[in-house]
Amino acid sequence: MEIPFELRTALERILQDADHGQLFRDSQNISLRYRTRGGTGERLLTSDGEALSYAISRMPATYGAVRTALEKTLACVDCRPRTLLDAGAGTGAASWAAASLLDLDCVACLEREMAMRSLGARLMEDGVQVLRKAKWIEHDLGSGDILKNGELFNNGKLPDNSGLPENDEFPENGSTLGKADLVIASYVLNEMAEDARKRTVRQLWESTGMILLLVEPGTPTGYSHLKEVRNMLIEQGAFIAAPCPHSAGCPMETDDWCHFTCRVPRSRLHRQLKDGEAPYEDEKFSYTAFVRETCSCGGMRILRHPQVRGGHVMLRVCTQDGIKDITLTKKDGESYKKARKAVSGDELD
Ligand SMILES: C[S@@+](CC[C@H](N)C(=O)[O-])C[C@H]1O[C@@H](n2cnc3c(N)ncnc32)[C@H](O)[C@@H]1O
Repeated sequence: MEIPFELRTALERILQDADHGQLFRDSQNISLRYRTRGGTGERLLTSDGEALSYAISRMPATYGAVRTALEKTLACVDCRPRTLLDAGAGTGAASWAAASLLDLDCVACLEREMAMRSLGARLMEDGVQVLRKAKWIEHDLGSGDILKNGELFNNGKLPDNSGLPENDEFPENGSTLGKADLVIASYVLNEMAEDARKRTVRQLWESTGMILLLVEPGTPTGYSHLKEVRNMLIEQGAFIAAPCPHSAGCPMETDDWCHFTCRVPRSRLHRQLKDGEAPYEDEKFSYTAFVRETCSCGGMRILRHPQVRGGHVMLRVCTQDGIKDITLTKKDGESYKKARKAVSGDELD
């Protein structure tokens, strides 16, 4: 999964003036901070150099994860969001991913770090019109009043603290009042402490008109954050569009975690910053898409890479009746043909 050409060129343009030695040091510092201080609510990315280093080394992977998760989600719903709230937007990867799949009218990016907002806005200058017009708003998700920002989608007013000039009005195109059709929080919950995480998810859900997409690292911890908020939102009336083919509790065994992979090409600088030789990396991610209306995706979700053998395919799938190991043969017709070409994360009828 490649980042869009326009994003790549924007990054290359900004990199021309950057000190690559400093970028490498910033990248090492960020990795250390995420390893030792993630999940505490502390600020982890604060300087311009760290923001750029994040954009080079992580944005392609988070873009790929969100794009994959959103594509799978859209395959399961009838609605087509027109407004996007990107919560904890960082340098805007989720907005780029959404804009590549949807015909959006407006995008608002909430982010507490000035360095991330400023780089994200600069990168979007090279994007499609809706990204060029995106509102970048200083906001701490832990502080509680997302709905105030949600009103952006209703009356075009920016909150006083945005620090941004007023430009084009946001359209009133039938979006739910005060809510964004699509709310995405990608790779954000894992930075928060437990209380703030739950409070934030509750408020993101209140700000959601159609779909709330949460994407987390594909680790046991990332998955556990999704599992933690899943029951809470189901109790509040949410349904799950993807990846689960049901809106019940997650049937995954306690020593396992639901995650998927997307392959992301690495630039030369990316390889240097990550201290690796491989021309690509496999980004592991977990996600849950919550929706307001029950949806039609009642099939099976493939959880592991299918084992294709002569005349049969062995699959581990999540179904409405729990997780199953199944074998499809030629007798299964179209399902068998589809399964032979499928990868983990795909849906089967
Ligand atoms: C790992 S980055 C992910 C950025 C982006 N969503 C992506 O997928 O690439 C996490 C971002 O969340 C922001 N963040 C963390 N806690 C936040 C909070 N309480 N309020 C607003 N932003 C927050 C951080 O500043 C950082 O930019």
